[in-house]
Amino acid sequence: MSTENKTRVVTTYRLSEMKARGEKISMLTAYDFSMAKILDEAGIDVILVGDSAANVMAGHRTTVPITLDHMIYHAQSVVRAVNRALVVVDLPFGTYQGNSKQALASAIRIMKETEADAVKMEGGEEILESVQRILSAGIPVMGHLGLTPQSIHKFGTYTVRAREEEEAKKLVKDALILEQAGCFGIVLEKIPASLAERVASQTKIPMIGIGAGNGVDGQVLVVHDMLGINKDFSPRFLRRYADLYTTMKGAFEQYIGDVKSGDFPSNKEQYME
Ligand code: KIV
Repeated sequence: MSTENKTRVVTTYRLSEMKARGEKISMLTAYDFSMAKILDEAGIDVILVGDSAANVMAGHRTTVPITLDHMIYHAQSVVRAVNRALVVVDLPFGTYQGNSKQALASAIRIMKETEADAVKMEGGEEILESVQRILSAGIPVMGHLGLTPQSIHKFGTYTVRAREEEEAKKLVKDALILEQAGCFGIVLEKIPASLAERVASQTKIPMIGIGAGNGVDGQVLVVHDMLGINKDFSPRFLRRYADLYTTMKGAFEQYIGDVKSGDFPSNKEQYME
């Protein structure tokens, strides 16, 4: 592959052009090579190597336990599969809050060791110094406001955020601060649709919603949720595009039955010499 072709087709610049012309941005999570390859070939614009890997890949109750090494492993697997989509990697809890030098070191590890395109960070004004330091090193940053799962122990609930005026005002202010700092986009999670639409109309960078209504510039979902692999998670905002739990369980049951009965492998499925 020539050097020119190494740049992925979807860039942060292209995302801002998409917002300017009103083209919606599609984004889904991936954590492994096989899923990322299908997503990229389907034409997804952005792949998020989310710290939701802590939940769906590792079975943790929150995203708090996942480490930078784990995120790098997942991101390396995803990046190997992707030719077109922009790959964004979550900076995990404890690797950027409160110490901007540590934040930069974490972001540099992600960029150097995975060859991803950008990092994502949860929070507004409180993490501004870290955001600025990372941006000053030339690393694109995506923000994340509203329900920020790394702060779940502070919130104490996964319910809709920013319903109260004070929290809504802070969210708008944070979005403007992140835009001003140079972030290329922001994820808005689980906030009232009217508030999300207001933020999207006041900013030039794309607002990508999850549980934030249809007035934003794009949508993101956790891939296991939209494929119906996870049956125990049914928030209002989730649209399931498949029922892979049932399909996969059925296939496993059939395989187990075929092995037990001796039906598998058949003569056609073995080497006769
Ligand atoms: O980690 C993740 O999957 C996310 C999405 C919910 C936006 O941050």
